[in-house]
Amino acid sequence: MKIVKDFDVENKRVIVRCDFNVPLGEEGILDDFRVRKTLPTIQYLRERKAKVVLISHLGRPKGREMKFSLKPVAERLEELLGRRVEFLNDCLGEEVKQRITEMEPGEIFLLENLRFHPEEKQADSSFTKELAGLGDIFIQDAFGVSHRQHSSVIGLPAELPSGIGFLVEEEIKTLSQVINNPERPLTAIIGGAKINTKVRLIERFLREVDSLLLGGKTANIILSAKGVSVGKSAPEPEVIQLVAGFDLASPKLYLPVDVVAVDNDNVRQAVCGDIREEEMVLDIGLDTIDIFSKIIAEAKTIIWNGPMGKFEDERFTAGTMKIIEAIAASPAFSVVGGGETAELVNRLGLADKFGYVSTGGGAMLKLLSGEKLPGIEAIFKK
Ligand code: 3PG
Repeated sequence: MKIVKDFDVENKRVIVRCDFNVPLGEEGILDDFRVRKTLPTIQYLRERKAKVVLISHLGRPKGREMKFSLKPVAERLEELLGRRVEFLNDCLGEEVKQRITEMEPGEIFLLENLRFHPEEKQADSSFTKELAGLGDIFIQDAFGVSHRQHSSVIGLPAELPSGIGFLVEEEIKTLSQVINNPERPLTAIIGGAKINTKVRLIERFLREVDSLLLGGKTANIILSAKGVSVGKSAPEPEVIQLVAGFDLASPKLYLPVDVVAVDNDNVRQAVCGDIREEEMVLDIGLDTIDIFSKIIAEAKTIIWNGPMGKFEDERFTAGTMKIIEAIAASPAFSVVGGGETAELVNRLGLADKFGYVSTGGGAMLKLLSGEKLPGIEAIFKK
């Protein structure tokens, strides 16, 4: 598979697919982690006098919804790079074509959100060809979207000489290493919701890790599947069905032994097996924190995805925070990733406590599950 360094980029129009899908608030970008992670590729290309054309999606807009404009990203890039980043208010059309034709070597353009055109998600071939017409070389540096079958992900590599950027190279190398060749014991901690994106991961982890610690809604599902009542947090039967056939008696599997249970404003520590029908389970309990922390302290490699409870409510942050502290205190090489988990770590300013923070959400989960990523496969085929 080619990497950015394999190309002679001088004076060439290089399209770089980035994942600038950043969280936005009233004040603009809330976390620019993904933007900062693309800087090495952009700087490398600029220094070698490429004409750098950056493309990305942001959010899931229905048509041209300006709240999903990439303009704030262009402004942040300018600050971070300390040089001009030209923002074009579309990713296609005559004007865009003309402006790119007139680019000088070393210049950087960012095009408007690809998803303002529904054809991007449909992997429409005329859309792909029009995009491809804007460049001479394609560099895939959007690891976070590499599990999608979209024009700019799987289409462009078929049209242009293509390779991966430094961000994607680092993601593949680090994530493959921790799952295929980790220093053991390898401990995985999975929490959060969205069980359907984690089913294959849990199945694989049950085979390959030394300890699998579960919290959050994910744990509630497995507890239910084992016949332990989680009160009102019980998932639908079809969700429990997703884990049917898993080795739930595995000695590697650690479930909460106690939780924080809530009935209206009544919050209490409850032992699993003693959760009332009217209660909801919203965090792991103190004994569980203890057990999990000891396993984490003995690990040599740690993979973490998903909070242990409803951490955005301060009554239920303890489980997640204590797990973060345990990982931070452990000498293990720790990898954290998956949308809100990475965001949380960055927001708390704790990224430097971890060995590696992935820019991927669904893409990271898929890669760790052993599934192929279409965006990477498309480059590999070249
Ligand atoms: C992500 O945030 O996981 C990626 O940017 C992909 O976004 P998507 O789930 O909207 O395709």
